[in-house]
Amino acid sequence: MEEVTFISTLKRDKLLEKYSRRLETNNSLSRKLVSFQANKEIPIYRWFKYKEGFSSSLVKYFLSEYSSKPGKILDPFAGVGTTLFAGQEMGWQSYGIELLPVGAFVIQTREAINGIDKEALSKYIKNIWIDLNKLDTYNTHINHISITKDAFPDDTELFLNKYLTFCSSLKDKKIQTILRFAAFAVLEGISYTRKDGQYLRWDYRSKRELSGKPFNKGRILTFKEALNHKLNQIVSDLSANKTHSLFDSFESNGHKNFPVNIIHGSCLEELPKLEDNYFDFIITSPPYCNRYDYTRTYALELIYLGYDHEFVRNLRQTMLSCTVENKEKIDYLNQLYVSIQRPGTFEKVLNIYNNSAAMSEVNSVLDELNKLGKLNNNNIPRMVKNYFLELCFVTFEMARITKSGGYCVMVNDNVSYGGEEIPVDLILSEFAENFGFNINKIFILPKGKGNSSQQMGNYGRTEIRKCVYLWQKR
Ligand SMILES: C[S@@+](CC[C@H](N)C(=O)[O-])C[C@H]1O[C@@H](n2cnc3c(N)ncnc32)[C@H](O)[C@@H]1O
Repeated sequence: MEEVTFISTLKRDKLLEKYSRRLETNNSLSRKLVSFQANKEIPIYRWFKYKEGFSSSLVKYFLSEYSSKPGKILDPFAGVGTTLFAGQEMGWQSYGIELLPVGAFVIQTREAINGIDKEALSKYIKNIWIDLNKLDTYNTHINHISITKDAFPDDTELFLNKYLTFCSSLKDKKIQTILRFAAFAVLEGISYTRKDGQYLRWDYRSKRELSGKPFNKGRILTFKEALNHKLNQIVSDLSANKTHSLFDSFESNGHKNFPVNIIHGSCLEELPKLEDNYFDFIITSPPYCNRYDYTRTYALELIYLGYDHEFVRNLRQTMLSCTVENKEKIDYLNQLYVSIQRPGTFEKVLNIYNNSAAMSEVNSVLDELNKLGKLNNNNIPRMVKNYFLELCFVTFEMARITKSGGYCVMVNDNVSYGGEEIPVDLILSEFAENFGFNINKIFILPKGKGNSSQQMGNYGRTEIRKCVYLWQKR
């Protein structure tokens, strides 16, 4: 007879009841508006698709609806800088924190466009194949790490190395950045891999010994065709007179726009350094609690940028916990707050976390399911616990640095493990309320998403809320 487990949902139900009047389906927030899809017509966004990003229109929607004049805006999980640049276009002073060098490189490229010598760039591009063919060897090259080894066909790798060598010889740093970016943006297309969230999926044609059902990613572009296509796209966008393009905003507004400020690092460490009551608006989307591994998904881009195994391994542990590999950061956070002479803050935040009844319920339900072997990985309870613990610190800091009356908008998905829904929206909102935000709305996107395919077989498809929270500092 199958074992019957008693799972309590009492505390989560209570929290749902507490916030039920704040939950509201918002038909203006279509999936398209919230996701990166809506950016596909905008230059630079269409040069490199950062699927984890949200849309520029989403940022503009919230800034227009909830502010009367520009001020200071922050995104502590800045990605490729959507909040920062959309804010900048609307006259805001933008600040961002981002840990993954991929986002930082896209932001750097975007800044390099500002004031680029377009004629010189076009000239380099026109002669690029002549210059590359002249090189019979290379002195700058890709250093693979175990998860990227053999990712490219041999002739592609040779061209990539020559291309890197050519780029590093360029004196004009802006042109160098843009040209380096062009190949960076096509790495997936010229490789045997496909980004797949938790890891890279490998095509059967690669040299690797692969197990399981062979995967065919379709046509793999040659370096030449992929690079030519990307360079043409960049040149055409740079020379076109697009009314909504970012170039107009740079060029026609001259220096009226404030430059964006990006801090490379972890927001767990960087937020505590920021001043109290400094920001008028925060618009952000942290990693979701869904086992998505940014360091594996973007492994090709990371090695292309020159990062090694050690760096990528450390980076994985520094990222906000959302994979089963993440170890807990509690000691690190404790030491961090001691080192900045705010040990009281550490205790306060930890107390709020420990006193969340819904959080405790989720943690014990997951432990129970784990004991019964109902989770497909033993570390899921640890991941969930640490995900919320770290976001509890982030939420505290966001409340501290937001001005009274200012807003925090957060995009995040609920998740489900072992058939148990984890109300990310409600738990984080309760933390936020404890730290000084009013929970104005928890907007639900018109259509939620189904469960992950692994879980659907066992539990059937359930709708899981995908939300945008609107919190206002008291
Ligand atoms: C959902 S994405 C945000 C994308 C962003 N809204 C955009 O439009 O590009 C979450 C981001 O958080 C970053 N991240 C993860 N852990 C971080 C940390 N500890 N500090 C700062 N950024 C972090 C990831 O690299 C990723 O770019």
